[in-house]
Amino acid sequence: MKLYNFTELLQVAKQRDFKALGSFNLHCLEMLPAYFKAAKATNSPLMIQISTGTAKYLGHKLLVDSIRSLSESEDVPTCLHLDHCSDLAAIKFAMDAGFSSVMYDGSHLPFEENIANTREVIGMARPRNITVEAELGAIGGSEDGKCVAMSDMAFTTVEEAKRFVEETHPDMLAVSVGTVHGLYTGKAEIQHQRLADIYAATQTPLVLHGGTGVSDEDMRQAVQGGIEKVNVGTEMNVQWVGECQNTFSKGKVNDSVRNFLVPANDAVRNVLMEKIALFR
Ligand code: 13P
Repeated sequence: MKLYNFTELLQVAKQRDFKALGSFNLHCLEMLPAYFKAAKATNSPLMIQISTGTAKYLGHKLLVDSIRSLSESEDVPTCLHLDHCSDLAAIKFAMDAGFSSVMYDGSHLPFEENIANTREVIGMARPRNITVEAELGAIGGSEDGKCVAMSDMAFTTVEEAKRFVEETHPDMLAVSVGTVHGLYTGKAEIQHQRLADIYAATQTPLVLHGGTGVSDEDMRQAVQGGIEKVNVGTEMNVQWVGECQNTFSKGKVNDSVRNFLVPANDAVRNVLMEKIALFR
């Protein structure tokens, strides 16, 4: 089975009565079967996103081959997306390797430069039927080793989003509307009105980053308000490592390592199933 791009996968999701797609960061290969189990159990298509750090660690070919193969054997329509990347050469490398969707993150750049680079990435992607996510505004918190201080967080404005979309036509736009990457110290304050206004002005699928720690109620409201891709990363990592700390500390060195990992993968599957249920 081919890998789907974001737009194609969103169509499948809508046919199955979902309003939005979860896009779930994969942190290591051992977790991968749990993603497919969750998608199968919920009759959901699957969007897996990979940070540049994880792609380098696992290797692009291994990721493309294993995800394509599981998509086929499990009969789950799947999109393989490169998460936050501001390096054009690394984006091209992922496209050449077979990723079906990419994110160009120029949110830290001056507006015009973000537009120019986003256009360049879209120019590379469209002839290959690869979708492109762009970002406008600065989302706070820490992601793949990069940190945006809360004082540097900047909400996306309606006017800039409108102009940005008119000039670049991205397949999806990541917006800064109150979520942060990583674990929250307080409650996420999502600006639902800003979200609705941006959606009305752009008519483009919007992406909510920092899905970890967002309340179920906020998540449901966000997907009613124009969010069509929800990124969740930290939560699976936290569950997996937490279970492993428990099983590894109790086990013996000659126990099969899989016995330590099964509870961790089950916990990841459960997180994914709970999140997917919110997107209906
Ligand atoms: P969380 O790790 O906060 O869930 O955010 C993930 C994300 O937005 C990846 O781009």
